[in-house]
Formats: sequence, C-alpha cells, structure tokens
Amino acid sequence: MTTIRTVGFIGAGAITAAVINGIRSKDTALTIHVSPRSEESSTALAANFPNVFRETSNADVVSKSEIVVLAMRPAQLEAALSGLTFKPEHTIVSFVATVPLAKIAKLVAPASKVCRVTPLTTIEKGRGPIVMTPALDSAVALFEGLGDLLVADTDEQMMAFGCAAGLLSTFFELEHTVAQWLVATGISPASASLYVRSMFSGLANSALENRSLGLATLADRNETPGGLNEKVRVALRDSGFFTRIESVLTELSSLALVPPSES
Ligand SMILES: NC(=O)c1ccc[n+]([C@@H]2O[C@H](COP(=O)([O-])OP(=O)(O)OC[C@H]3O[C@@H](n4cnc5c(N)ncnc54)[C@H](OP(=O)(O)O)[C@@H]3O)[C@@H](O)[C@H]2O)c1
Repeated sequence: MTTIRTVGFIGAGAITAAVINGIRSKDTALTIHVSPRSEESSTALAANFPNVFRETSNADVVSKSEIVVLAMRPAQLEAALSGLTFKPEHTIVSFVATVPLAKIAKLVAPASKVCRVTPLTTIEKGRGPIVMTPALDSAVALFEGLGDLLVADTDEQMMAFGCAAGLLSTFFELEHTVAQWLVATGISPASASLYVRSMFSGLANSALENRSLGLATLADRNETPGGLNEKVRVALRDSGFFTRIESVLTELSSLALVPPSES
C-alpha cells in the first residue's frame, strides 16, 4: 500500500478548498501545503486546519510535497509553473481542464509520474465521481475514499467525462423548474423546495445503491404503463428533450477538444 505524507496545491481556489475539505475528513495525518494564491482561500484553509500550511511561494509548495496538485485555470498554468523545479520522484496531479497529459508532462519534467484528475466539488463531502488518467498508485491512494474513483484510458475520455459534468447546472435548473411549478399550484416555496430536493436525492441514491441494474432498467421500473411517469417520459422524448442532451454534449466535446491556446 502506498503511503503519502505530503501533498501540495498550486492554486487554492474553489476545487482545492473542496478537495482539502474532503481529504481532511479521511486523513488528518497528511501534511498539506498550499500556494499563497488565492490569498483569502489559502489563509482560511490554513487557519481552519492544523495540518494545512500556507506557503510563501509556489516553489516552497513544490519543494515540500511528494504529490503536487496543479489547481489553476488553463490560462494560468504556464505562468504558475514558470521557474519551478520538479524532481523525478514527484507525482504531479493536474486538475487543469482541457490541457492534455503530454503538455503537462512537458511542463513538469523531469517529474515523470504525471496524471490528470477531475473531481467535482462534491468531493468536499466524500461524494461524486473522480476521474483519473492514468491510474498512478500514489494518486489513487490520495483520492481513494473521497468519492467514486474511475479511471479514463485517454485524454479524450477525460474530456467526455468533463462534458458530462456540463450538466450540473442543468440538473439544478430542472429542480428549480419543478419546484416553481409546485409553487404555482399553491404549495409553499419551502415545501416545494424540500419535496424536489428530497425526491431527486432519493433517486440518485437508489441509482448508486443498485449499480447492477442498468439505468434504462431503473427508468422502466419507475413507471407504470399508462401512468404519470410514462406520460412525462414519452412526452419529453417525443419533444426531442433527450436527443438534444446528446447533441449538446457532442457539440461541447468538439469545442472542448480545442486546446485553450487555440480557442
Ligand atoms: N471547480 C470545479 O468544480 C473543478 C472541477 C474539476 C477541475 N477543475 C479545474 O481545476 C482548476 C481550478 O478550478 P477552480 O474552480 O478551483 O478555479 P479558481 O477558483 O479560479 O482557482 C484557481 C486558483 O489558481 C490560482 N492561481 C492563479 N494563478 C496562479 C499562480 N501563478 N500561482 C499560484 N496560484 C495561481 C488562483 O489564485 P488568484 O485567486 O489569486 O488568482 C486561484 O486560487 C481549473 O483548471 C478547472 O478547470 C475545477
């Protein structure tokens, strides 16, 4: 079993804060070094957790960490890594969306253990998917238990998973639409909101708990022929609702495959 003692984050924004909160509830023995940027977020993380240290430079994060996580936006990557010296024994984990593994490997040479990882902010509560390519022992040890860890075979697969995550806000818009409709029937906003949150949460949990059942089977099992659910699903299917989701994801994946410097 791989044991990690130190991990460093260059970029202490939204996803770093979520990951550190997730790690903290799993492993309080790990020492975590964070870059001075973002000032507010890195200061808060160091103040809240005794094993998180705000360093004075990105170079200090690198020199003090076995695993270095790159957690800045794509356009910030090269400036953040400029002048840093990596060692062959470093493991580098890139959260940076759209930047291929080969480009990251070039920027962090001679470090040769390099992978991409895409968590969601749900990692904060130890939930949600975490996609990794390739599966490096040390990175697996760090992220195991923080959610559902999946391994992608290629950058293209990472991109496809990333495009699927483009549905996060649509999910909440769907919840909002249903809740607003309930309110329009005269139900109180509090009851409408709780009903919708609880219903979708229960369904999502049951999908995870019944992984041996296909998702199409779960859809069939949640409707009665001629019943309300069948009416809604058929009406939405006939309106092109589901095929439009597929075509939007396809459009997104072709856009996302253009590297940031060319987009
Ligand atoms: N948010 C998500 O759910 C999520 C999920 C998976 C992957 N990702 C990827 O993770 C990366 C970060 O996302 P995010 O949402 O956390 O963005 P964010 O909140 O904007 O965080 C970016 C961080 O990078 C810092 N930074 C910028 N330039 C830097 C430099 N030269 N040295 C050190 N730090 C620097 C920023 O500091 P300042 O505030 O001082 O500029 C900020 O703390 C992105 O590539 C994103 O695609 C995000």
